[in-house]
Amino acid sequence: MRTQVAIIGAGPAGLLLGQLLARAGIDNIIVEQRSPEYVLGRIRAGILESVTVDALKRAGVAARLHEEGLVHDGIEIAFNGRRHRIDLHALVGRSVTVYGQTEVTRDLMDARRAAGTTTIYEAEDVSLHDFDSARPLVRYRKDGMVREIQCDYIAGCDGFHGVSRQSVPQDAMRIFERVYPFGWLGLLSETPPVADELVYASHERGFALCSMRSRHRSRYYLQVASSERAEDWSDERFWQELRSRLDPQTASALVTGPSIEKSIAPLRSFVCEPMRFGQLFLAGDAAHIVPPTGAKGLNLAASDVLALAEGFEGHYRHADGSGLDGYSARCLRRVWKAERFSWWMTSLLHRFPDADAFSSRMQQAELDYLVGSEAASRALAENYVGLPY
Ligand code: APR
Ligand code: PHB
Repeated sequence: MRTQVAIIGAGPAGLLLGQLLARAGIDNIIVEQRSPEYVLGRIRAGILESVTVDALKRAGVAARLHEEGLVHDGIEIAFNGRRHRIDLHALVGRSVTVYGQTEVTRDLMDARRAAGTTTIYEAEDVSLHDFDSARPLVRYRKDGMVREIQCDYIAGCDGFHGVSRQSVPQDAMRIFERVYPFGWLGLLSETPPVADELVYASHERGFALCSMRSRHRSRYYLQVASSERAEDWSDERFWQELRSRLDPQTASALVTGPSIEKSIAPLRSFVCEPMRFGQLFLAGDAAHIVPPTGAKGLNLAASDVLALAEGFEGHYRHADGSGLDGYSARCLRRVWKAERFSWWMTSLLHRFPDADAFSSRMQQAELDYLVGSEAASRALAENYVGLPY
């Protein structure tokens, strides 16, 4: 097989890139190691910046998002028994849209199927070759047969654990990483959300987040020690702990019910520099990870892919290589700002096991300053809705 761009991974990054390229008339094939059902079964965050909504519009997959997405003009920060609203729209004139990553992925998969573009699911032993030459190659096994795709470029959109970044010699990249000493225990339930907007709660027992997927489906998170296991958390234990970390107003409005899903995710900050190695480009979680506190993961994946699609369009349609040449530097500028914001929000709202009395007072003072100062609230709002692309 031969194509212009071979895309590794059918997560949101790979699927969105495929869709943007197809619409620009650029041939692409996606190679994914899992089944479509498995990919859709993963539950991830669901806050879209306007840049991400625009990218989905440009890819022609925003119809359901416009019907079902919930536009949020603000978020709530709860601490010391009170909730404080940050009015995103009043502060920076923009909002965010609540629409689950699963739904984004489903819409992209449907569009790809309708366009008849090739996706190879359940590809085993995917390997990348010769991306330092003009004739890169992707090899994989399917139904017991080894197959090859010849291409001009490879887009590594295969997430943090994927093969693309691991195919690059260690000495060609620089890694920046921070692993946090806690995780998030998430619970999904068919219950109405506790509030109209998201509630980020900082409490001495640990951080908690009240989020949602729709007006009938809620997503809640608890900060837990890295050693915790989801099996040890009954629904009842989860709800009780959540209630104890919320302010009285929010706690009394909480509607509980059986969980549909419960899992623990570790928290990590990670950046790989650069994001291009010869004819191989990394995008999304393959190149960087943020802790989920600012909900930036999917949004960063979308902005990488927008820049990459523009680069390929410049190259193939206008013989202009500047977009591809500038890809890594352009993305990393945005990536590092989102890394900073996610790290800051994580540090502000979580309890750190090694925190001394001084750092606890600093956290309290910063929370107080944040909700009391318009300048501080605006800085949060500007980052939360997404910095300009
Ligand atoms: N070969 C082929 N596909 C692979 C391989 C491999 N060796 N390894 C991983 N994959 C696939 C995974 O099965 C997955 O479907 O690559 C895809 C990567 O998808 P994501 O992990 O969702 O990453 P990305 O598309 O960059 O999306 C970023 O997802 O993880 C969240 O917080 C993140 O919201 C952000 C978004
Ligand atoms: C989610 O709904 O899963 C979610 C929302 C906001 C975050 C993180 C996760 O900051």
